[in-house]
Formats: sequence, C-alpha cells, structure tokens
Amino acid sequence: MRILVLNGSPKKKSDTFRLTDAFLKGLNSGNEHEVHIYNIIEKNINPCRGCFGCWERMDGHCVINDDQNEILDLYRTSDLIIWSFPLYCYGMPSHLKAVLDRTIPLVKMKMIQLPDGTVQHEPLADFSNMHTLVICGCGFPDWEGNFDSMKLMCKTCFGNPEIICVPETPLMNSPAASIVADPLLEKFVEAGREYGRNMELSADTIAKLETPMISAEEYIRNVNQDM
Ligand SMILES: Cc1cc2nc3c(=O)[nH]c(=O)nc-3n(C[C@H](O)[C@H](O)[C@H](O)COP(=O)(O)O)c2cc1C
Repeated sequence: MRILVLNGSPKKKSDTFRLTDAFLKGLNSGNEHEVHIYNIIEKNINPCRGCFGCWERMDGHCVINDDQNEILDLYRTSDLIIWSFPLYCYGMPSHLKAVLDRTIPLVKMKMIQLPDGTVQHEPLADFSNMHTLVICGCGFPDWEGNFDSMKLMCKTCFGNPEIICVPETPLMNSPAASIVADPLLEKFVEAGREYGRNMELSADTIAKLETPMISAEEYIRNVNQDM
C-alpha cells in the first residue's frame, strides 16, 4: 500500500512524530509498504488564494506553482494518508492547515447532499477506498474538550477517519519521562501492526493510546515546578 505521512510539527524533534514513527514501525515492519513522509514545514506551501482557479482547470492541481501540487499527486494516489501534528490553539498548525485548504483541487464545485443532510463537494475521483488516520499530540493533560474542535474538523473533512488524540506529548522527548513514554511508544508499534492487519483500530486500542501517561495533577505539578 502507498502511505503518505503529512508531518505538521515544525520541530526537528517532534513529540507527536515519535508516536507516528513508532506506529509506522509496526505498520511497515515487513517493509512491504511504500511510505512517503513529508515534513510540511520544510516545503514551500503558500496559503490558498481563494481564486477557485482549480475548479476551472479540474485537473487535480492548484494554480499556485509550489510544492502543494506534488503533495496532491501523492495524496490522490495513496491508500492511506496519515496526518500527524501537534494541537495548536485547538486545531492544526497553520502551515498544515494550508495543505488541507489546498486539497480543494481534489473536489468539484458541484455540491451533493448526503442522507444525513450534510453537504459536500463531489470528489474529482473515487476516493472511497482511501483511508485516513489522524495522530494528534498536545501539551495539556487530559481534559474534556481540548481536542473537540480539531476532531470535528477532521471528521467533517476526511469523512470519519481514525483519530488518535494523545495528551501530555511533551513527555515523549523528556529523558526523565522515558519510564512512561517508552511503554506508550511500544503501544503505538503494536497499534501499527493491528492497523496493518485490519485497516482499522479497535476502540480498546485507541483508548489505550489515548490514556494519559501520568495523572493530570502530577503533570501540572511537573510543568509548574520550575516557575
Ligand atoms: C502555538 C501553539 C499552540 C498550542 N496550542 C495547544 C492547544 O490548544 N492545546 C494543547 O493541549 N496544547 C497546545 N500546544 C502545545 C503542543 O501541542 C505540544 O507542545 C506538543 O507536544 C508539541 O508537539 P510536537 O513536538 O509534535 O510539535 C500548543 C503549542 C504551540 C506552540
């Protein structure tokens, strides 16, 4: 299978990407997949101009001549897209949002209404076999609502993807926290294997991946200790 990984962390040592990397290790343990990893921050991707020039051309490309067209070519020919990013102000980082905005060339202007009443643009091609997985890290401890707006956007844009929301991800790059971070990395490797077998994750597996590494009280105490 062809896998496109869109890494939206701007950091060289991304907390979130450590998890995604572990997931890929499990998923591609037999080296049987073609994996393309794009570090979006290193790419030249301008914001959408809103010109709808793509809907005049209808060739799956954007009229802006930058790295997005290469991403679009891979995007529409991939079997699995993995969006890996840190939560920024309850959404995705702006440079990755620019990539999402500029997937508009992959749909037509024509609108369709689904049985549940929601309205979409008709896809340019049949993407019904494409799988989408979201792995999102964040700096807060677990609290209800932190991921809600990101989840709603991803569900609406990607049509019910698998979403893994991990709290306390700065622990992934803290040497003192390896005692709790390493077991989580192992769980991501195992989850990658499960995804490779079933092309989905059980609710039980997602719950394990999303379980906070330490309690909110301990996490907040650690964050605040040097202040
Ligand atoms: C601009 C900015 C906005 C952020 N917004 C949130 C947020 O809304 N909720 C949250 O829990 N963490 C937030 N964080 C924290 C990051 O999600 C967190 O540090 C994460 O571990 C970074 O992951 P990365 O190393 O993969 O980039 C924010 C960080 C930055 C720099």
